[in-house]
Amino acid sequence: MKNIAIFASGSGTNAENIIRYFTASETINIAVVLSNNRKVKVHERVNALGVPSFVFTREEFVAGTPVIDKLAEYKVDFIVLAGFMNKISDALLKAFPGRIINIHPALLPKYGGKGMFGMHVHNAVVAAGEKESGITIHYVNEEYDAGAVIFQASCEVTPQDTPEDVATKVHALEYAHFPRVIEEVVSKI
Ligand code: GAR
Repeated sequence: MKNIAIFASGSGTNAENIIRYFTASETINIAVVLSNNRKVKVHERVNALGVPSFVFTREEFVAGTPVIDKLAEYKVDFIVLAGFMNKISDALLKAFPGRIINIHPALLPKYGGKGMFGMHVHNAVVAAGEKESGITIHYVNEEYDAGAVIFQASCEVTPQDTPEDVATKVHALEYAHFPRVIEEVVSKI
């Protein structure tokens, strides 16, 4: 059994979807959820499914050690960023080499980098008149949204689509693909 930690900063619909997908899994256990925000809905969602969640400050994420200690406590083998808006520390990257993946709500390398997260991405996609958007699941390295791509899927963006419409389409792709891709990547570690 491999233990996974999910890092999430907001609503946590992806975290919930991932936890539900692996509920009866014999190979993957979603052991713990970590967040930088106490006030967000992810806690309620995951706690209701029996998964504990903890909050760390930005300083603690940067320092790394308090987070690494918590991950050791839950014997975490692999980290999944699902709507996590803080940078990952060098200490954490060193502690989990090749074992941290992220989902980005656009087709990287487009619409990635610092400040490109959540609705900012969909606003930019619509403002640019893009005909498509999508998701990118990638390994995490020292730079924002720049690690090796594992999987991409796209959706159509029509001239009528609002940023909220694009967010809905992108979320549907995330729910359909992210758990399956996690399963595949973790099966190889
Ligand atoms: C997701 O669309 C995810 O791809 C995005 O935040 C949303 C979180 O939704 N992540 C980023 O923008 C990371 N740069 P959720 O909290 O409902 O899962």
